[in-house]
Amino acid sequence: MSKIASIFDLETLARERLPSVLFDYIHGGSEQQLTLQRNLDDMRALALRQHSLRNVARRDTATTMAGDPARIPLAVGPTGLAGLMWPNGECEAARAAADYGVPYCLSTCSINSIEDVAEATGKPFWFQLYLMKAQRVNESLIRRADKANCSALVLTIDLHTQGKRWADEKEGLGVPPRLTPRNVLEMLTHPRWLAGMAGSKRHNFGNLEHEIEAGKSVGSLSKWIEEQFDPTFDLDTVRWVRKEWPRKLILKGVMHPDDARSALEVGADAIIVSNHGGRQLDSAPSSISVLPQIVEAVGSRIEVLFDGGIRTGGDIVKALGLGAHACLSGRACLYGLAAKGRDGVHCALELFEQELQDCMMLAGLSSVSEVPPGVVTAQPPLGARR
Ligand SMILES: Cc1cc2nc3c(=O)[nH]c(=O)nc-3n(C[C@H](O)[C@H](O)[C@H](O)COP(=O)(O)O)c2cc1C
Repeated sequence: MSKIASIFDLETLARERLPSVLFDYIHGGSEQQLTLQRNLDDMRALALRQHSLRNVARRDTATTMAGDPARIPLAVGPTGLAGLMWPNGECEAARAAADYGVPYCLSTCSINSIEDVAEATGKPFWFQLYLMKAQRVNESLIRRADKANCSALVLTIDLHTQGKRWADEKEGLGVPPRLTPRNVLEMLTHPRWLAGMAGSKRHNFGNLEHEIEAGKSVGSLSKWIEEQFDPTFDLDTVRWVRKEWPRKLILKGVMHPDDARSALEVGADAIIVSNHGGRQLDSAPSSISVLPQIVEAVGSRIEVLFDGGIRTGGDIVKALGLGAHACLSGRACLYGLAAKGRDGVHCALELFEQELQDCMMLAGLSSVSEVPPGVVTAQPPLGARR
């Protein structure tokens, strides 16, 4: 591909470079993928109102997210197994984010460990925590994130059980992917990916492999993790984390105003309105459709971040117009990583910034901290008089 013009080009390149079991893992959602599709459809159904008689020569895209500087209102969100998409993938993505000037969030289920990423970037990053049934592991992960000087802990609250992704089950996704005849053939016919992975520092869940006995054998750790998601997780669990964690606490997976109010009550510093990119409760509404009611409930008292369906700079403006303070990107940056490693994540961020700049100029906006609500509307039906 000669020129990468959009995130969708990165998606195409990722599809070409990865064995299908890995591309489908990134691209897909749970069950019928209704929520995944809603995230995309509802974002696109929103209209941006143009203001054409304003001087927009000066524009400010910078902000802070949970206290950390962000050159554009977008952080690289947590995605498990990123290190299977590119050798040392989490370190590469974290470096791209640090160089670009946006926050990076490392997943609990990463291939590189917290310590690998700390060493690779030398800058504070965020750590996303899945609480496990094994309390000793939770305590250890929090301690390690603290020691690595992570500036925020992103506690994911929507994983009482893992959403079923039918393609992953059928294709044998795991760490490593199951060696079915199809997967072996796919790996052999994607030699660039295969050669890259051979040189990767790690091939297992870097944060967990030394925490438990099952971590010693590649393969059994995936099974252990699946059994560890804790259905007893509730507000008391969050209170415990708040007590243990000294710096910024962000709750990820808020889809209801009640949960947003609870986040305030327990002293969280920010929330992420998110349905996990349509990978958990299938049939949940799109995250963009619930954003306004959550902003109305708590927006003046806590930082409201947003993810789900962000693929262009215009999508960021839509989320800001509906009251989000800033956004996170899951798949878009992961497509970049899978396509071109660190350069691909950089490319995704650059595309977002260019599109954000263009969108601000065309919509008559000078600052990301002042996107008035009227900028975003539902597309009026054809023939409506206004
Ligand atoms: C491949 C993949 C892996 C993910 N892994 C995690 C994870 O480990 N922890 C987490 O909190 N969210 C995880 N998510 C959810 C993302 O952080 C984010 O909420 C979602 O991708 C946002 O939607 P978008 O992909 O449309 O940007 C994952 C998403 C994808 C696509």
